[in-house]
Amino acid sequence: MIPYSTQEIDQDDIDAVTDTLKSNWLTQGPKVSQFEKILSKNCESKYCITFNSATSALHAACSSFDLGPGDNVWTSANTFAATANVVLLCGAKIDFLDIDPETLNIDVNILEDKLKNASISGTLPKLLITVHFSGESCDMKSIHDLSLKYGFKILEDASHALGATYNSKPIGSCEFSSMTVFSFHPVKMITTGEGGCVTTNSKIIEEKVRDFGRHGITKEKERFSVIQNLDWYYEQQSLGYNYRMNELSASLGISQLSKLNYFVKTRNDLAENYNKILPKQIIIPKRNNFNTCSYHLYPILLPDKPNLKRDNLFLHLRKLNFGVQVHYIPVYHHPYYRNNGFKDYFLNNAESYFKRCLSLPLFPSLKKGDQKQVSSAIESFLKTY
Ligand SMILES: Cc1ncc(COP(=O)(O)O)c(C=O)c1O
Repeated sequence: MIPYSTQEIDQDDIDAVTDTLKSNWLTQGPKVSQFEKILSKNCESKYCITFNSATSALHAACSSFDLGPGDNVWTSANTFAATANVVLLCGAKIDFLDIDPETLNIDVNILEDKLKNASISGTLPKLLITVHFSGESCDMKSIHDLSLKYGFKILEDASHALGATYNSKPIGSCEFSSMTVFSFHPVKMITTGEGGCVTTNSKIIEEKVRDFGRHGITKEKERFSVIQNLDWYYEQQSLGYNYRMNELSASLGISQLSKLNYFVKTRNDLAENYNKILPKQIIIPKRNNFNTCSYHLYPILLPDKPNLKRDNLFLHLRKLNFGVQVHYIPVYHHPYYRNNGFKDYFLNNAESYFKRCLSLPLFPSLKKGDQKQVSSAIESFLKTY
């Protein structure tokens, strides 16, 4: 099976992890600090805090906004459930925004209309989580302008977008947000096995987010409530979890990060090749020329014809051993959400996209010959209609 995405592990990665296995540090140590420093540099952010997944990073990020009952948080309907789940875990209320049918990201006009209505009904969000779907940045400047007008904070879920840029600045620089979260799951842009991080430019946020993933414990002397100079001393100042990244993951991350530019470039070359060779009836999301898309995913849409069924194309390609996948089921469709306030929820563009979408295989070692076969298989499928 050729998967829709997979990790790229080479000898350097194996050597990096093996060296760490032979060292004195397996939990938090020099590799974690080094990985955080390089990530910050790459993203042009002041701070970076690593986590054992993007989900735990999102949980810590949301918690740092002091979300609780009575707070509203909005996000895109077209995302992985974790983006919304962490909001509920913080005790706040989640609501979903429809997507732009061309970019598949939050539609800024729809957002503005919803904000106008929420302003009248007194239900404005405290926080908006933007999702850079497939690695293409949202229109962050316009969203930021709206955040100033309506008084909400912005968190970027950039799980798909390490190595992507917005208006020539790396995603993660937090120019238009309080924080950005990345995922290092094996299918993502780089991997640490499981892992994630938060980038931010605020020292206050950095402390809160770091503490949340480390039992609420600080070892920074200048933050102690009691003057204490003994090396063994530490303080728990809030409640938190053990969400820390370990040294093995961090050493893999450092090695992987050195290949990020290559990964992004290769994914872009392969995406361009798909754009050229796919049958003309296939609809491809719009990409902004001023941005670099990281192409975590290569989603396509079937034309909107009643007899043309995405699931038939899915089965056709799976039979030929192409591991195509659907990204995403609109989050409000999941039984958990249907049973918790979203029973008759329906967003037009998210629904239209969901019923016609399919992610084709895309990862750096994918061969152009495989892409040709995928394209020919789609062509032969379309001929039967
Ligand atoms: C948009 C988005 N957010 C969050 C996550 C959660 O990432 P992780 O698996 O690292 O917890 C994912 C993972 O697929 C994702 O795609």
